[in-house]
Amino acid sequence: MSRKKVFITAEIFPEAKEILSKHFDVEVSAKESLTEDEILENSKEIHGLLSLITDPITKKVINSSKKLEGIANYGVGYNNIDIEAANEHNITVTNTPEVLTDATSDLAWALLMAAARKIVPSDEFTRVGKFTGWGANLFLGADIKGKTLGVIGAGRIGQTFAKRSLGFDMKILYHNRSRNRQLEDELNAQYVDKETLLKESDFISLHAPLTEQTYHMIGENELEMMKDSAILINTARGPMIDEKALVLALKQKKIWAAGLDVFEREPKLEEDLNTLDNVVLTPHTGSATYDTRRKMAEIAANNLVRILNGEEPLTPVN
Ligand code: DGY
Repeated sequence: MSRKKVFITAEIFPEAKEILSKHFDVEVSAKESLTEDEILENSKEIHGLLSLITDPITKKVINSSKKLEGIANYGVGYNNIDIEAANEHNITVTNTPEVLTDATSDLAWALLMAAARKIVPSDEFTRVGKFTGWGANLFLGADIKGKTLGVIGAGRIGQTFAKRSLGFDMKILYHNRSRNRQLEDELNAQYVDKETLLKESDFISLHAPLTEQTYHMIGENELEMMKDSAILINTARGPMIDEKALVLALKQKKIWAAGLDVFEREPKLEEDLNTLDNVVLTPHTGSATYDTRRKMAEIAANNLVRILNGEEPLTPVN
């Protein structure tokens, strides 16, 4: 009997190919960032697809992949996949939750601290030899201890991010589709509406998935509601923030700073975003640690093995 075929859309940790090769014929794309047409071309004869969160797995791709049984997305978010089309064709879709919760929460804190203490401009200043002596007013930043932390989205990552604040004795406000009693019991977090969170928080961090409801959930009005000392962090999905409105708010000092790992039109940045010194930018590296990415590769591969062998996958999303 001939072996089923699997396509991996980019070079990821070799563990993925090793796991999959025990069962199937595996092809790995030599090129990263494939277009819709390139994915379509490579998917016509395959039974399993291991995709990146940036791969457009559209209706068109799914409709033309006649043998496809499973799509294992290499990430927790799966807004790159047309789930409805997958459902219509009985294709199982999986993601890689949990293993990236800590790494992503850590990066959100790194951005928060970097923005609060102006780490990036301070580094640049020191590097180029402008540091000529201790300065009474050199790079004054914001305190974190005792401040109010606003967490939007209280799933695994939001909750873990909030827990990291314990050493800072913060007041925690959160907004979510539903109450998270664990967060309330463990951290004394208060469930509030979005407006209260925006108005009262010193630091606001986004941890919700990108959906029709969360698209542009932070726009001109929301930025207007925030304190002029507020710091906004986004490690979730770029389109949750209206980036044009954010650039304007940062320029006009309507909020104090932002830390962004994700962008509205990734990898493009909104005009002028890269000229502002009150924003810290990282290239969507929330889950980018060796251990995390290795575990993501293993889970994605094991999910495909299970789907193509007719077993229940570890982390299905449909
Ligand atoms: C995800 O998994 O959705 C992250 O954005 C990848 O780092």
